[in-house]
Amino acid sequence: MNLPPRIRTWLAERLDIGVAEKFADGQLHKPLPAETGFWHTFGSLSLFLFLNQVVTGILLMIYYRPTTNTAFESVRFIMTKAHFGWLIRGLHAWGATLMILCVLIHMMRTFFMGAYKKPRELTWVFGVFIFGCTVTFGFTGYLLPWNQLSYWATTVGTEITGAIPLVGQYLKVLLRGGEGVTGETLARFYVLHVVVLPWVLTMLIVTHLFLMRVQGLATFERVGEEKPIDKSHGIPFFPHHVLKEGVVFCALIGLLVTLILLWPIELGEKADPFVTPEGIKPEWYFLPTYQLLKYFPKTLGLFVSLIPQLLLLLWAFLDRSPERHPKKRPIAVSIGIAALLLAIVFGLLGHFSERDITFRGRHYHIDIYGVPHRLSEQPKH
Ligand code: HEM
Repeated sequence: MNLPPRIRTWLAERLDIGVAEKFADGQLHKPLPAETGFWHTFGSLSLFLFLNQVVTGILLMIYYRPTTNTAFESVRFIMTKAHFGWLIRGLHAWGATLMILCVLIHMMRTFFMGAYKKPRELTWVFGVFIFGCTVTFGFTGYLLPWNQLSYWATTVGTEITGAIPLVGQYLKVLLRGGEGVTGETLARFYVLHVVVLPWVLTMLIVTHLFLMRVQGLATFERVGEEKPIDKSHGIPFFPHHVLKEGVVFCALIGLLVTLILLWPIELGEKADPFVTPEGIKPEWYFLPTYQLLKYFPKTLGLFVSLIPQLLLLLWAFLDRSPERHPKKRPIAVSIGIAALLLAIVFGLLGHFSERDITFRGRHYHIDIYGVPHRLSEQPKH
């Protein structure tokens, strides 16, 4: 690492900077496997989006006030009066969606490339906790604007915890701070969102990155046959991979700004506990689970929805084949594709259920299970 000579001398007279320089050099020029490419940038993209959430979140906290009388109004102030408030809120809200998308793509990349296998099982387990933490961020943040949609989606979401046998009711009251969704719930979600989750997620990410750096990125070689990557057949992290990441970052920033301008985040109407709006839906990443729960009685549904989550957590220990290349792992790859397709189908069913739609000039009502029923006349708008 090349520091300007005067700064280097000033520091060297006071600190043993040789150690730090050696470490930074080693990290920057560490060779990566030759197959490292575009799909390997989604981990850093997730990190970049997490930092975006932290910075824009801190800026939002300047004006946001977490009480039932002020939350909605303070967000309206941010959107209409605070300088660039609409941009900061847009970066935060669209940033959350893109972060979850990037984390999902990154998870699929490590799954399909078999990167979770020995010795990287713990990197995977930490990754699954990171994913859980990221969607919990989304769930707690959704309530904060205190609008109709967020109020009722949180009412439905927290109601589900009540179905857990034995401890469900206790958990529900603990989460809500009482029987219903009130200012107590808002305060709890706020503390979780701005204090607890950021620290937990930061620690999980730091450990995840530490493990990844110590073990190095996986190649397509079989488990136990990985050879150390030397400079002759690897690619250097800096500048090669860093430049590739730079290009992808620019594209991501372009996408973020485009989304904010074309689909601005709306505020809707202030929460009203006495008026239940139609078509309450959770955010897109909860839709598959939300739809799955509808096909089962409450408690059974919870257990069924736990199965994919447990499988995900333990997957690195369940898949014991030594192969990493997707072409040599037909069963694991088929399971991955089937899970992805199921999530998309349930997500779409969740999205279109309880709506009237028009398809090729015909009008249909989609019931809660996603079954279309033909309507005889045009639906009223
Ligand atoms: C905020 C969330 C996350 C961040 C910032 C992050 C960051 C990273 C980075 C920078 C890498 C190295 C480059 C790359 O493969 O993209 C990596 C590797 C890895 N990540 Fe993540 N990650 C996150 C979430 C996850 C999740 C949810 C999983 C899986 C459940 C996961 C599993 C892994 C594995 C197994 C590796 C090793 C890949 C290899 O050796 O090729 N990560 N992570």
